[in-house]
Amino acid sequence: MKIFGSTNSAVKQSLIFLAGALILVSSGCYRGKPSKEPPIHINPNMDDQPRLNAQKASDFFEDGRAMRDLIEGTLPRGFLREDVIYYTGKDAGGKLVKKSPVSPTMEVLLRGQERFNIYCSPCHSRLGDGKGMVVQRGMFPPPTYHQARIRDIEDGHIFDVITNGIRNMPSYRSQIPVSDRWAIVNYLRVLQRSQNAELKDIPESERAKIK
Ligand code: HEC
Repeated sequence: MKIFGSTNSAVKQSLIFLAGALILVSSGCYRGKPSKEPPIHINPNMDDQPRLNAQKASDFFEDGRAMRDLIEGTLPRGFLREDVIYYTGKDAGGKLVKKSPVSPTMEVLLRGQERFNIYCSPCHSRLGDGKGMVVQRGMFPPPTYHQARIRDIEDGHIFDVITNGIRNMPSYRSQIPVSDRWAIVNYLRVLQRSQNAELKDIPESERAKIK
């Protein structure tokens, strides 16, 4: 009897274990069937919210686009471009400004030098003589900066050339932000000065070194 009894309880135990395993498999652990529904989330805490991603379609609006145009007369923060000279290189009357609105401090010039060497030197060369590496490999050569016409040209013109390109030169509007364009304009003036200097531009104490 005792043997029987113990066998009975062993059978019972394994039955309970099997039932438990079956419940587990059929409830949560069974991953065989993919579902588009979000997983069961006991405390959602606003984790999933109805929203539309950029560039997605939506049947809420008549034109089927989720992204909306700006309301007329509004501007996103940081997009107010009131300072016409700074953003276009031209005054209110559309005339190119003679002088850069950004002063050539050492910091500006060093930034301009760095940006110039990255963006302009492949064609114009680091000296600005128009013999950059791309030109040496066959590209249409740009003019040297060290000619009277470009020495006398307005700062606003150089800003405009970077912004909009000119004839065979592409625009660098999207690669170079406005503040860097002015830094480059200032540096370009330094380059021109460096290639067209006279002895009297050098302090007397330094002249002996280069003679
Ligand atoms: C892909 C080569 C290329 C790059 C890079 C390039 N340029 Fe030019 N640039 C040219 C060419 C070519 C011309 C001559 C355009 C023409 O007259 O057809 C030119 C002309 C110019 C001129 C003379 C415009 C005039 O009035 O004749 C200026 C100033 C100038 N570039 C400034 C820059 C500055 C500043 C940068 C860097 C932000 C730059 N360029 C980058 C190719 C380039």
